[in-house]
Amino acid sequence: MPIDFSKIPSPCYVIDEALLRGNLEIIKDVRDKAGIEIILALKGFAMWSVFPIIKEYGFNYATASSYNEARLAHEEMGTFAYTYCPAFSETDFERTAKLSSHITFNSLSQFEKFYPQIKNSNKKISVGLRVNPEFSEIKTLLYNPCAPGTRLGITASNLKDKLPNGVEGLHFHALCESNSYDLEKTLAAFEKNFGHLLSQVKWVNMGGGHLMTRKDYDREHLIGLLTNFKNRYPHLQVILEPGAAFAWQTGYLIASVLDIVENSGIKTAMLDVSFTAHMPDCLEMPYKPLVLNTVDEEPGKPTYRLGGNSCLSGDYMGNWSFDHELGIGEKIIFNDMIHYTMVKTSTFNGVQHPSIGIWSDKTGFRSIRKFGYEDYKNRLS
Ligand SMILES: Cc1ncc(COP(=O)(O)O)c(C=O)c1O
Repeated sequence: MPIDFSKIPSPCYVIDEALLRGNLEIIKDVRDKAGIEIILALKGFAMWSVFPIIKEYGFNYATASSYNEARLAHEEMGTFAYTYCPAFSETDFERTAKLSSHITFNSLSQFEKFYPQIKNSNKKISVGLRVNPEFSEIKTLLYNPCAPGTRLGITASNLKDKLPNGVEGLHFHALCESNSYDLEKTLAAFEKNFGHLLSQVKWVNMGGGHLMTRKDYDREHLIGLLTNFKNRYPHLQVILEPGAAFAWQTGYLIASVLDIVENSGIKTAMLDVSFTAHMPDCLEMPYKPLVLNTVDEEPGKPTYRLGGNSCLSGDYMGNWSFDHELGIGEKIIFNDMIHYTMVKTSTFNGVQHPSIGIWSDKTGFRSIRKFGYEDYKNRLS
């Protein structure tokens, strides 16, 4: 049964189970053919009600970037997290370590500060260092971990030829919605700078940003690249930790038109959702999201800006053309609104947080979570 948007209340994030399963099949295929470990990056997608579906495909591990994410992995995935955090406080380190099987440090100073606690504890934790390959194809600075002066990862000049005792892995993350050819170049830079250290470690984590579920992604090339890497370093376990790829194009943000205002010939459809609060990447990247049943601005067609319901002046985007004039109450369906949305929302202006639901071909729409005043109030005091 195809998704029936009229059955879904507004505002609501809705994931389509069949689309999620499609992505999981693809990622599983890559994992199995390349013989690597692929784990879910919770920072990109943490809708824990679908973790049981994700686990059906043998994805039993998650990467966490904080205590809260490590705890979610533990409580809802039943696993210890592969944790990387840009900087741990003492309190956070102690409680996060208890929930982690792997901990990657962002700097040598954090390693030196916290490694003695790991060494002296009874819990086995595999320790890694995040290194910075100083190469990235990402043009948007906001998303480029290798931008000049970056705080993320240790550069080659700051590492000696011998890794400190206790380090078992190296981690790099330099991609964002990237393809396998970007990984190939990044991997070459990583090997050029850090290849001499690879005999000293047991695993390499190639971070996230591998958008292997995008239609045009060359997965055979990725599998070839990883197989070749593994053949050259047979002692290494290879880990990828994508977030976006799991939830890429798996669902929608359902909104509706509350009002239409016009100024200087510009018509804005005022919605019951907000770009800044519910789709922040649209403004931050920025990028224009796909809206179902629209085309890019086309002369002669009814054309609108879509306006968010916060007071931020810039909480709008333009312009979409429809095949009819919009009416109050009409639904507006934003496509691909599952990754980096729910995890980034705010209750700015106290605007209504969209509910969260799932569409199944067999059972139709199921509402999973509604948000109310208490959710807004509990973030404040
Ligand atoms: C260290 C690290 N790992 C994994 C990811 C997940 O990346 P993506 O969701 O683009 O696959 C990120 C994203 O910022 C990251 O910083």
